[in-house]
Amino acid sequence: MSSFLWLPGPMEGVMSPEWVRAANSLHLAERWITPFFRLSQELPRRKYFASFLEPYKPVPTVMQLMGTDPGLLAEAACIAEAEGAAGVDFNFGCPSSQVLRHGAGGGILKKPELAGMILRRTLAAVKIPVSVKIRCGWERPEELPELLAHLLAEGPAMLTFHFRCVSEGYLPLAPEERTRRFRMAAELAGERTCLILNGDFSAAEEMRSAVKQYPVGGVMAARGFLRDPGLLRRAAGEHVPPPDVLREAFFRAVIQQYPEGMPPGRAIELSIFLWGKENLCFQKLRGRREPVRLETI
Ligand SMILES: Cc1cc2nc3c(=O)[nH]c(=O)nc-3n(C[C@H](O)[C@H](O)[C@H](O)COP(=O)(O)O)c2cc1C
Repeated sequence: MSSFLWLPGPMEGVMSPEWVRAANSLHLAERWITPFFRLSQELPRRKYFASFLEPYKPVPTVMQLMGTDPGLLAEAACIAEAEGAAGVDFNFGCPSSQVLRHGAGGGILKKPELAGMILRRTLAAVKIPVSVKIRCGWERPEELPELLAHLLAEGPAMLTFHFRCVSEGYLPLAPEERTRRFRMAAELAGERTCLILNGDFSAAEEMRSAVKQYPVGGVMAARGFLRDPGLLRRAAGEHVPPPDVLREAFFRAVIQQYPEGMPPGRAIELSIFLWGKENLCFQKLRGRREPVRLETI
């Protein structure tokens, strides 16, 4: 077993409770970082934290928080800690216009002082590790030094770095530019945090060579993990069935999580995530109204 972290990228809208339970039943991840839990004005009741975290257990789980109010986020972190989260992570990278409208997610990168303050308040409030997930800047990679200076001064336990800027969304960038940005983040971070590289990793070999190439603590894969549910275990050097076998097994495991059958819309959506558009399952399920069971597929 390697000591590097091979992390599944959080994916709001994909990681439903059923999805997560199915992934746990196949031991696809050693730890989770949840998709964002949004804090806007009031602190939600504690039971919402508990039910949000529940599907991820028994795997150690970092709860990701999103918001702009340092006090509210620190209070939320305390509840996450009390509910057994293995850590809290701040989403400072989401490019969705709905999120940016409120200045949250990637919008925080426009205010490095605020990003630092959020970390400071939370680090003072909890004992569990506090981490951040960022992009290379709001608009330009040249923003990274100032941004990291503010964040690293607070001492986050871990920092996940997606190489694109918020304004770049999911644009393809030249491989040399991706490399340049990874190198810049690794040089700036030095030994001051556990740096996790993220963005466009889809092969275990590439993940392993990244941790040799840069002084980092690990790699995170989100979409690559969807296409190959065994990716993280493969990166860790385990022998796991090939991607097509695992995709099928995972699809079946998700369906099994629905005692009354899986809503067809969700089954189609999942099939597209796993196999892309126009997959066989999609053809079979198109137009279907009845719940999907294992016998159906
Ligand atoms: C559908 C979807 C939902 C996402 N939701 C979140 C989220 O809740 N929190 C977060 O930090 N990143 C989220 N991301 C970003 C991913 O975790 C990851 O940083 C990004 O996709 C780049 O990695 P990849 O190239 O391995 O997919 C999401 C990405 C996708 C595709």
